[in-house]
Amino acid sequence: MSDTSFGGEWTREKLQVLRCYLNSYTTALKKQSFRLVYVDAFAGDGTWRPPPGSLYASSGYDDFRELYKGSPRIALEIEDKPFDSFIFIEKDPHRCETLKRLELESPKRGIEVHNGDANEYLPRICSNLRSNDRAVVFLDPFATEVSWTTVESIANTRKIDCWILFPQAAIARMMPVGREPTGPLADQLDRIFGGRAYWQDTYEQSPQRSMFDEPRRERKAGSDKIAELYRQRLESVFAKVAPYGRELKNSRNSTMFQLLFAASNPKGAKIAVRIAGRLIDKW
Ligand SMILES: C[S@@+](CC[C@H](N)C(=O)[O-])C[C@H]1O[C@@H](n2cnc3c(N)ncnc32)[C@H](O)[C@@H]1O
Repeated sequence: MSDTSFGGEWTREKLQVLRCYLNSYTTALKKQSFRLVYVDAFAGDGTWRPPPGSLYASSGYDDFRELYKGSPRIALEIEDKPFDSFIFIEKDPHRCETLKRLELESPKRGIEVHNGDANEYLPRICSNLRSNDRAVVFLDPFATEVSWTTVESIANTRKIDCWILFPQAAIARMMPVGREPTGPLADQLDRIFGGRAYWQDTYEQSPQRSMFDEPRRERKAGSDKIAELYRQRLESVFAKVAPYGRELKNSRNSTMFQLLFAASNPKGAKIAVRIAGRLIDKW
């Protein structure tokens, strides 16, 4: 059996936003003849439970931690106008096995489950969308798994609305305050931001020199500024992006993630961002 322990209060918040958006999205497109596709690129196994000892494991008895519906099950529950097909991608083979039960439970729902890396599968899925297809993609990684090339392939379809969980705290940890990342760390940031120019500006020349008396660069920008740079990067490829994300905080009130929204279809983007923006503000 796979371990589905992750998240906390923010997981519930993020999934509540997703559920409301999916409901509004399919209802808004109900009278049109589009084939509506839901793509969950970091699908998990269909359920989640708070990790042992977390505040959200409310009873205090870890063995009785409740099991909640994850994003794939939430998408399947959208009723007013259900999605016509569902694509679930999950890298972990055990989680994927559990996820495949959804396919068996609901054989007529048009569910496809892929075991593999979202960064490989998603660009292929994007290029296979037909002219009549419209889709919502949910990018819900644990941390920094989403590559910029994947995000770009979504934007290029002009058919997809996308919720992206930006791992603000994890990325800030990759960007030390006292020195600019180099080598493999810088390469990782390039993969996430789609190039050095998009993150390197957070570093400035320091008045202090290194212990070897060399010039030194330091990061003045806080983690919220890093998330804003990423949001602006989304604006460079999507038709429209929500002007700010929903900050998802841990029990110590530190922002762990930002839930960002971007719409790629030029015609539908304005209304999509209006709906998403209201949900970002809600609760
Ligand atoms: C935060 S969980 C997703 C939770 C799910 N959206 C839900 O609401 O239940 C992230 C999932 O992504 C999977 N994962 C990690 N890296 C991945 C990758 N490169 N491609 C696809 N899945 C990946 C993990 O195994 C994990 O199940």
